[in-house]
Amino acid sequence: MVEGARTGGVLEGELERLLDLVAAGGLFVLTGAGLSTDSGIPDYRGQDGVRRVMPMQYAEFRATSAARQRYWARSFIGWERFRAAVPNTGHRHVTTLQRWGLVTELVTQNVDGLHTEAGADDVVELHGSLAAIVCLECGERTSRVDHQRRLREANPGFAAYLAGVVVDASQVSSQIRPDGDIVLADEAVTDFAMVQCLACGSDALKPDVVFFGEAVPKARVDRCHAALEAARGVLVLGSSLAVMSGYRFVRRAAALGKPVAIVTRGATRGDAESTVKLDAPLSSTLATLITGLEARGAGYS
Ligand SMILES: NC(=O)c1ccc[n+]([C@@H]2O[C@H](COP(=O)([O-])OP(=O)(O)OC[C@H]3O[C@@H](n4cnc5c(N)ncnc54)[C@H](O)[C@@H]3O)[C@@H](O)[C@H]2O)c1
Ligand SMILES: [Zn+2]
Repeated sequence: MVEGARTGGVLEGELERLLDLVAAGGLFVLTGAGLSTDSGIPDYRGQDGVRRVMPMQYAEFRATSAARQRYWARSFIGWERFRAAVPNTGHRHVTTLQRWGLVTELVTQNVDGLHTEAGADDVVELHGSLAAIVCLECGERTSRVDHQRRLREANPGFAAYLAGVVVDASQVSSQIRPDGDIVLADEAVTDFAMVQCLACGSDALKPDVVFFGEAVPKARVDRCHAALEAARGVLVLGSSLAVMSGYRFVRRAAALGKPVAIVTRGATRGDAESTVKLDAPLSSTLATLITGLEARGAGYS
């Protein structure tokens, strides 16, 4: 193969290096919003690295009922679209890599649950999941499905909004924001009725995700660091690495002299630390990778 020849915009030499790194196994895989864009869930930054939306900060959410009301009114409607998203081929290829024994830890920054839905095991959801709700006062946890049902019962006037909701995954991204919100007029927000914690009566109910300005739980970070120490290399899929909670693993790997491969469109903060960087679409690149691994034969399938 000629070093530097291009296939689909990707240097073949880089593909070969990616193949070598993945075939060696022992991978700490870190995925980001870019892996779910093909499922219709938009990313935060995109190729130009500019953040398109500013999600609610933790301090603001915590501070007032009015902020939480604004969050839940938008999220109530956005969730119907968010949960219509289904895994794409990229998620399925990651599951294949895990089943072939090449992945020792699968860490995602996504809160959409799509890795698990695509059959992956033991996924570390670094930033939590939108599918669970936690009470900030007493710690009571409930499912998002139950919470959504209670919100629906408390807000019959919002049926018209929900009636327009799509269930076709191809339309998911038409209005949805990356964190499951949608854009909603202020007057609709003030009419929205909140529901309270069933255990303590507080309205400080939060999706069990790590908001901007909030720390990742220590036990989760420790688990990732231990996995990283034991890993042979790191594979980053679809992340700008702009958020430090994910980027720190790339920095640590580089400091330990472990190889780092990044497959993400556009520049990322970890490019300087990477040994291989493919600025390429994930679904097709992972498909090529899987085919390449199969061509190397041996015992995977
Ligand atoms: N699906 C989700 O759950 C979701 C969506 C948006 C944001 N978030 C949250 O926001 C934070 C965002 O950080 P991040 O680094 O994960 O995302 P990001 O939005 O900062 O970066 C995504 C990167 O993926 C690239 N990309 C998009 N589609 C791609 C594709 N098909 N192929 C290859 N590259 C593609 C973009 O160019 C960008 O560089 C995370 O902490 C996450 O919790 C989650
Ligand atoms: Zn409570």
